[in-house]
Amino acid sequence: MAARVVAQVLIAGATVVFRAATQAWGQALVNAQKSGVAQEAATKATGAVAGAMNSSEARLILGLDTGATWEEVMKKYKHLFSVNETQGSFYLTSKVYRAKEALEQEYEQAGLKTDIPEEPQAQAQGSEQKEQK
Ligand SMILES: *[C@@H]1O[C@H](CO)[C@@H](O)[C@H](O)[C@H]1NC(C)=O
Ligand SMILES: *[C@@H]1O[C@H](CO)[C@@H](O)[C@H](O)[C@H]1NC(C)=O
Repeated sequence: MAARVVAQVLIAGATVVFRAATQAWGQALVNAQKSGVAQEAATKATGAVAGAMNSSEARLILGLDTGATWEEVMKKYKHLFSVNETQGSFYLTSKVYRAKEALEQEYEQAGLKTDIPEEPQAQAQGSEQKEQK
């Protein structure tokens, strides 16, 4: 009878130890995910679409030469953005947007970002007084 009680205590003890070990392992996993591991994976997953783009890739996407002016950049950007948006390609639209963003940064740093003369048809919402030809 005493032996049975001892055995039960031993089993209960072993269960507690086992549970604690499992919890510790689970916590270790969670910690690993919180730190580097998961972050790296997340960066890789989103980087393809949303990450910073270098300017040569940006030029490629917008179809621009190295010497393009900021005005040309914006012209291409507006065109590609609107056609892709109309076609419903969110992926390409965001690519086009990221490309514009990357070039904007570059042009700004180089002091090449000029004010764009406003196009008559662009952003005309709420300005009905504008002349119509
Ligand atoms: C820019 O990115 C593209 C694609 O990720 C890569 O092939 C190219 O080598 C990069 N160029 C520079 C100058 O970093
Ligand atoms: C959408 O943008 C890409 C540039 O990333 C361009 O190559 C493509 O021609 C555009 N789509 C349309 C329908 O013009």
